[in-house]
Parts: sequence; structure tokens; C-alpha cells
Amino acid sequence: MEEKLQLLGKEAIAALAEAEDVKELENLRVKYLGKKGELTELLRSMGSLPKEERPRMGQVANQVREQVESAMNEARKRIGRLEMEARIAEETIDITMPGKTFVQGTKHPLTQALDELKAVFIGMGFSVVEGPEVDTVVNNFDMLNAPKNHPSREMSDTFYINEKVILRTQTSPVQVRTMMNTKPPIRVISPGRCFRNDTPDATHSPMFNQLEGLVVDKGSTLGDLKGSLEIFARHLFGEHTQIKFRPHYFPFTEPSAEVDVTCFKCGGEGCSMCKGSGWIELLGAGMVHPNVLRNCGIDPEIYSGWAFGMGIDRIAMQKYGIDDIRLLYENDLRFLSQF
Ligand code: DAH
Repeated sequence: MEEKLQLLGKEAIAALAEAEDVKELENLRVKYLGKKGELTELLRSMGSLPKEERPRMGQVANQVREQVESAMNEARKRIGRLEMEARIAEETIDITMPGKTFVQGTKHPLTQALDELKAVFIGMGFSVVEGPEVDTVVNNFDMLNAPKNHPSREMSDTFYINEKVILRTQTSPVQVRTMMNTKPPIRVISPGRCFRNDTPDATHSPMFNQLEGLVVDKGSTLGDLKGSLEIFARHLFGEHTQIKFRPHYFPFTEPSAEVDVTCFKCGGEGCSMCKGSGWIELLGAGMVHPNVLRNCGIDPEIYSGWAFGMGIDRIAMQKYGIDDIRLLYENDLRFLSQF
């Protein structure tokens, strides 16, 4: 019996010393020390020994069990260390490896140009309002004093949804909406998409973007319009920029003008950018026509106003040297990722 015990103990200790992982360890525990384990069975069989041998055998048995248990604890610690080392080796981060590159998009050049325009006007006290892209003939033409026979009303120029509803051809109807909804003083800009029945080419797109400006107050003058546009042009194109008003006609302003800026590339000398003239056309502007004020419920005897409208596409094209408006709407990443 004693020999058997010692042998079993040795066997168990040797096996434990070889165990390599937690699972193996657990199997050995069950095999020797579990309820039906070999050592347990042997101890249980001590009941059949003659009485006088029992105390001594009990001592030996306890000794062997303690030895096996301490070998088990040793093995557990050893395996714990091994597994930790393996985990550390596996989970190490190699900080010398190149990082994963994150492809970040850029703002569309139109959005960049618009952000800049907005920043300048917000800095001058304007707030930004928006109007719908689908608007009425009344807001887009009638209220803006457009004669009934004005050519821009033709189907060949304007996209009609039905007789009364169109895709707006300009941002100017937002002037009407603003004056109908707000009491002066009014100082707003309104950017957005516009639509005209144009065949696309390098300078025309059936969808394009405008930015409208409107100021209505007591005593606002053409001088305020000129001064404000001059400040705007200098912010946008540099402090030496000059502006020039050329007489023009718009139904909703009187007097009306087209406003040019000195070419920001040559400074007015004449170059390919300005086609040799030294000037670049920037926008349309004028004093709000009394009829328009009256249409919108504002008394032209008390209030006066000025307005302007510009093509954002053209400004973006000039700023970034883009020579074809269609590039702005084709969504080609080879083009867009340059900005
Ligand atoms: N709506 C005009 C256009 O599309 C631009 C314009 C000119 C707007 C003069 C204005 C303005 O507000 O006063 O050509």
C-alpha cells in the first residue's frame, strides 16, 4: 500500500511538471485528486487495512497528497506565467509599423467659395436666409417687377413644373419671401441653387449657384451699396481691388448696374484671365425698385433698399482657376480631391 502510494505520488508530480496549459492541469487534477481520482480511490480503500496499520498509512497518504497538491500549485503558477508571456508576445504593438492612413474628404470647391462669401457678409452684419428651389412664377417674376413679356419667362429659358410653379431661375425670389415675412431693417444674404434651361458648355450649366443680397432700411443709399460691395471685393480678392459700376437693366432694381472688379491676377494690366481688359464681371446690383417694395408691403416713401446677386460658380472658378463649370457638377474625385 505504501509503495503504491509513493509511486502514484511520484507519477502525479512528474506529470504535473510536464503540464503545459490550464486544460492539461485540470485533467491531471481530476485524474489524481478528483472525487474519483486515483489518489482519492487509494485513500478511500484504506478502510480495508488492518486497524494498526491505518495511522501510519494515514500519515503517508497525507504526505503524498500534500506533495501532489503543492506540485499542482507550482504547475499552476508556472503555466500562469507561460500564458502571460505568450499573451504579451502576441499582443505587443509594434510602434515602428507605419500607421493606417485615413482617407479624409475635402470640401467641394463651391462650398469652400460659399463659406468664404458667407464669412465676409456675416462679418458685415448680414444674416443668412434660404428659400426653396421650387418656387412660384409670382415670386420669381411677377413680384420682382418682371414684365409679362420678359424673355426669361419663356419655356426655352425656364423649367416649368406647371403654369404657376417653376424651378427658380435666380435667388431673387428669396428677396420677396424675406420682405413679405420680415419688417425692415433687413440685411440678408441668400445662397442657393438656381436652374435655367441652358445647354451645358464650359460656362453654362442648367443648375448653378447664386448668392443674393438684400438691404432695406430708412435712408439706405446707392453709396452704401457701393461701399459695401467694395469692402466685400477687397476681402475676397485683395485690398488693392477696385470696383466699377456699369449701367445695366434688371426689372427689380432702378438704377441697376453690373459691377466689375479689377482682375486679381494682373491687377488691371490686362491678361488672359480678364481677356486683356483688366476687369472681371462680378455681379449684378441696384436700388430695389419701388414697385418691388410696394408689392411686398413696404412703403417706398419711408424705406429704400439695395440688392445684388452673384454667381457662386463663377467666383469659385475664378478663385481656383477652374476653366469648365461642368467640372463642379460631375463629382469626379480626380478633380475634387485637388481642393
Ligand atoms: N437675379 C439676377 C440674375 O440672375 C442677379 C441680380 C442682379 C440680383 C441685380 C439682384 C440684383 O438682387 O439687384 O441675373
